[in-house]
Amino acid sequence: MEFRRINGLPPYVFTIIDSLKVEARRAGEDVIDLGFGNPDLPSPDIAVEKLVEAAQNSRNHRYSSSRGIPKLREAVATLYERRFGVTLDPDSEVINTIGAKEGFSHLMWVLLQAGDSVLVPAPSYPIHLFAPLFAGANVREMPLSNDQETFLETLQDRFEYSWPRPRVIVLSFPHNPTTTCVDLDFMQRVVDFAREKDVILVHDFAYADLGYDGYMPPSILEADGAKEVAVELYSMTKSYSMAGWRVAFMVGNPQIVAALQKLKSYLDYGTFQPVQIAATVTMNEAPEYPDQAREVYESRRNTLIDGLARIGWDVPAPRGTMFTWAKIPEPYEEMGSVEFASMLVREAGVALSPGVGFGPGGEGHVRFALIENEQRINQATRNLGRALTKLG
Ligand SMILES: Cc1ncc(COP(=O)(O)O)c(C=O)c1O
Repeated sequence: MEFRRINGLPPYVFTIIDSLKVEARRAGEDVIDLGFGNPDLPSPDIAVEKLVEAAQNSRNHRYSSSRGIPKLREAVATLYERRFGVTLDPDSEVINTIGAKEGFSHLMWVLLQAGDSVLVPAPSYPIHLFAPLFAGANVREMPLSNDQETFLETLQDRFEYSWPRPRVIVLSFPHNPTTTCVDLDFMQRVVDFAREKDVILVHDFAYADLGYDGYMPPSILEADGAKEVAVELYSMTKSYSMAGWRVAFMVGNPQIVAALQKLKSYLDYGTFQPVQIAATVTMNEAPEYPDQAREVYESRRNTLIDGLARIGWDVPAPRGTMFTWAKIPEPYEEMGSVEFASMLVREAGVALSPGVGFGPGGEGHVRFALIENEQRINQATRNLGRALTKLG
């Protein structure tokens, strides 16, 4: 049988490390899992309480609203006003999605068709590359740089030299996997550029609340004129540790919101209504939760960076995300990231994500996800120190 849309997909490299981890655990070994970005913190108590309460009411068992119940969209508007000073019309500028990943994927279906082109940062969170490909579009990569001036030049250059002219530019800061962060001035300049060139901006803001050392990641909608050209995905996955609940939102340009709403009304009946009710109450009544989560990740980040420095692996401290992006130490560089990460599962009992899993631009790196507690992170760096004997 032939499955033309998926036949050409490369094997998911993360499964290689995952299988090694499962194998080692089956053999009774302890593996410290810093691979997959799957938050380990419990969801807010209030979310669980409200979910249970709402699930007991049979009125909530029916199909819900695909775009999100009105109170949920109002809660998002309140959150954006409180957190970013951005005013949103809950009726026309907010739509509920089944996680940012679903929202992003179907949005690409709405915005792109065969032959269109799109700019995507590289390396990238895999779906940023694959959703446009599924829609039949040509992806033009923009190599990321930690220096936002350089990246802006790359973006403008790639736009000018791409044919057909890109219809969409994908952005995502704080960035997974590289942890690159930008400021509001960068967002303003990209918005100005997009308005001038008449191109749509899609900002995946999955790490909206995870900025460190006082850094507050800007929403693209804080930039003047952004709503003319931009939409943003905000997710409860990381900010509220609600990964499994599948609650996110797309906000911004009302025409794009309406277009996604139209497609989704054909495809789904929305998230289970008790989940929408619980998410509404959580945003309204637990506004402090994202800050608490951020403190936990920031402290884990410090523990990891200090531990790595102690074993002679110098890695810059990220300013955002729940990750650390580390260059493979020079004596091990030639192994490549899959071989290096596989060796670390076997020799150190530590699972990391190989950088090449985020595209060729990620080769030469591994990604640590801060999803184990500090004691385990300390244990991981001690194990790494013992295994990486060439670090001296
Ligand atoms: C950049 C980015 N976007 C989206 C997601 C997934 O978010 P959600 O759980 O809301 O689908 C992730 C999760 O790792 C991510 O890193």
